[in-house]
Amino acid sequence: MPLINVIPGDKIPTAPLNVRVPMWRVPGWLMLLVWIGRGLARVVVLAVRYWWLTVPAGLAVWVRAEYGTVVLVAAVLVLTGGCVTWWQLHPASWLRFGWYPLVGRWRRVWVYRRRWASAMATCGLATVFDGDRYIPRLGKVRSDSFGDEVTVRLLPGQIPDDWATAAPRLAYTFRLRDGRAYAAAKPDRVTLRFLRRDPLAALVAPLPVAGVPDFTALPLGIREDGDVYQLRLTGSQLLIAGATNSGKGSVIWSLIRALAGGIRSGLVELWVFDPKGGMELAAGTPLFARFAYEDPDRMAGVLEEAVKRMRHRAARLRGTSRQHVPTPADPLIVILIDELAALTAYITDRKVKERIKEALGLLLSQGRAVGVHVIAALQDPRKEVLPFRNLFPTRIGLRLVEKEEVDMVLGDGARDRGALCDQIPETAPGIGYVALDGVREPVRVRFSYLTDHDITQLVRDYARPGGGAL
Ligand SMILES: Nc1ncnc2c1ncn2[C@@H]1O[C@H](COP(=O)(O)OP(=O)(O)OP(=O)(O)O)[C@@H](O)[C@H]1O
Ligand SMILES: [Mg+2]
Repeated sequence: MPLINVIPGDKIPTAPLNVRVPMWRVPGWLMLLVWIGRGLARVVVLAVRYWWLTVPAGLAVWVRAEYGTVVLVAAVLVLTGGCVTWWQLHPASWLRFGWYPLVGRWRRVWVYRRRWASAMATCGLATVFDGDRYIPRLGKVRSDSFGDEVTVRLLPGQIPDDWATAAPRLAYTFRLRDGRAYAAAKPDRVTLRFLRRDPLAALVAPLPVAGVPDFTALPLGIREDGDVYQLRLTGSQLLIAGATNSGKGSVIWSLIRALAGGIRSGLVELWVFDPKGGMELAAGTPLFARFAYEDPDRMAGVLEEAVKRMRHRAARLRGTSRQHVPTPADPLIVILIDELAALTAYITDRKVKERIKEALGLLLSQGRAVGVHVIAALQDPRKEVLPFRNLFPTRIGLRLVEKEEVDMVLGDGARDRGALCDQIPETAPGIGYVALDGVREPVRVRFSYLTDHDITQLVRDYARPGGGAL
């Protein structure tokens, strides 16, 4: 008689089946062999994985056995002496190829590996599926003088944003200062950057001035990874947002300095608006082609003059070129506005306000291709104050007062991806976040700071050939 009756077309009944598990009798010596085999395989894997420890240790044991302790001590001393000499002769290559790879390997084992499983579980990055626990795999650790870059294999279902949210928590778990996550080149990986000390803590001195500025790469400050932050001005408009005393002035002066070579040769004309009474920028008058402050009517007039220039140029270039190339006869016009809200929101004369808004809207929307760029600083990025926010393709977010302002300035989701403008301390002016071409995550930058003396020198060395603005 069949054990189960299956009726065609019917559901298979789920009554418990009488399954008998076969019994195997394994002799004790075989079990012992399997354990020993497994243990040996594990030792070999560990020895290969940590070759940088096992190879020198093995060599040391061999030298001692073959030639004695004295030779071993002498060999260690010679090796140490070689490293010290390398460090003294060429510190950069010693650190890059000698010291930091060792530090990275050591920190991988000692700092990360040790607490990895528990950190993953407590930060919500491990998963349980079907009774099994899954932990993201720890990859390479690369160290430098400021921190560690840790590569991690993502678990299925995770995205880099999950790690960006957990990164500060992870940093504290590993007892480090600050942590951020970046999407890696391969889509199954994420790179974590943990800081041991802040590379942007020190003041950034003014950067060298190029005789002919490269408008696609104007040096303005230092990035967290130690590279120079270069602004792409060609084809763009720039918004600098930051609370009072956040260092907007230093961004503007860094930019003026980056353009200085072009100002002296006549390739660049600076049209400057300093509505807060000319306090910030008056010192640079000999560098400016136009300088307007205080009088709203005059500011509207200068903006309208820029619109006229832009229209003439557009008419001339139409059909012959799609991107203006600056020459002394036809220079790049850079319109610098220190406090944009003073032009767009705080003016009481409605007629003048309308004129300014119209001119600014035209310059922002049509100026890029014809070499007319607007660079505007702003304290309050709320929509009411700045109706043109979306016309600025490039934005810099310095210290901001509220969390919500970060996404207003740098775009939706920027704060979640790591632009913590609201957490920049007041004691660190000139630090901000920028978006880089082709990089999802905002990058932290410190802009160079020009003292009054630096400004005086800049003005003396790079004044306009035809004299400064009135
Ligand atoms: N890059 C920088 N590095 C170091 N210190 C800076 C930097 N930028 C600004 N500071 C310091 O912070 C102070 C305020 O900077 P700044 O005047 O540029 O701020 P701001 O954002 O323009 O403020 P406000 O909105 O009031 O005009 C400066 O006096 C200077 O001492
Ligand atoms: Mg200012």
